Amino acid sequence: MFKAKEVLLYVAIGLFLLIAVGFAVVEEPREAVVKEISPDPFELNKRLGRGVNLGNALDAPNEGEWGFTLQEEYFDLIKQAGFDSVRLPVRWSGHALKEKPYTIDPNFFNRVDWAINCALSRNLPVILDLHHYREMYDDPNSHKERYLALWKQIAPRYKDYPDILLFELFNEPDDALTPELWNEFMKEALAIVRQSNPHRTVVIGPGEDNTIPELKFLDIPKDDRSIIVTIHYYWPLEFTHQGAAWVTKADSNEWMGTKWSAAEAEKKAVVDNFNIAAAWAKENNRPMNLGEFGAYEKADMESRARWTKFIADTAVERGMSFHYWQFDSDFAVYDTKNKSWIKPLFDALLPPR
Ligand code: GLC
Repeated sequence: MFKAKEVLLYVAIGLFLLIAVGFAVVEEPREAVVKEISPDPFELNKRLGRGVNLGNALDAPNEGEWGFTLQEEYFDLIKQAGFDSVRLPVRWSGHALKEKPYTIDPNFFNRVDWAINCALSRNLPVILDLHHYREMYDDPNSHKERYLALWKQIAPRYKDYPDILLFELFNEPDDALTPELWNEFMKEALAIVRQSNPHRTVVIGPGEDNTIPELKFLDIPKDDRSIIVTIHYYWPLEFTHQGAAWVTKADSNEWMGTKWSAAEAEKKAVVDNFNIAAAWAKENNRPMNLGEFGAYEKADMESRARWTKFIADTAVERGMSFHYWQFDSDFAVYDTKNKSWIKPLFDALLPPR
């Protein structure tokens, strides 16, 4: 027969063991698993590093119509040159049924698969970006169902792809897709992505063309930490978009000849803007990506190189990754016809080795 004291001791030991085993079985592995499969977005952002946009190819109405068609060799060039990652803008909305169930054209999907695989097989992280859904600017509510249906197809298709594939929910919300409405749409799109990709890193930018002053209105679900926040920077627009026919809010021909001389006041304007962005990132504990910046080919090359280097350095100094706009085409850092890097811009983007 056990004495009462002994019984108490055994009960206490038994309880302790139960709790210990419980913690070991339930708590520890659960934590360990989460750590293993959700990449740290800050680490991933470091890996994005200094990247380039493959713009004007899959985001044109049809690939090639804007004079640029992706080739496998470009991924080698980008990797060998020392760029760390690519952003792949894709006009999904131009290749999906206009009516329910809004099916994405299988041939187009295969082409996007090919481009993603070209990047991933070279160990180049890739941001898969939903670009140029322009109808959403005029009439977002009528297009909301179709927009969400695109992510219902895209997200499951890539659910087993490695962590270095990231999804960007929407390029540059603007006009009638106001910052308030964008917050609403973004949360719904994110929830759809999370159904099939609970741990995928998702890239989200603020309203009004992903501009810095709009960051303060961006309302990302606080408990979702697998997110990188992106901003775009084309300031001053009179310099970066001089002569750009697609600027509608002003006559950009009047801006022709605008230079950027790296004068103290010009640099201060940039630094002030980036400090606002960096302060927001710190306060909200989010990694930040500069997803687009560049100066159109009609500006003079010296100013373009000066501006590009200053923006790239200012972003990197504040812990941001970046994607220059763009590899080939009208802001090109690479000349696909002459098969050569455009040296002043190339040197502005990558540190000398
Ligand atoms: C935006 C547009 C792209 C344009 C770039 C520079 O990303 O989507 O088409 O070339 O900004 O204006």
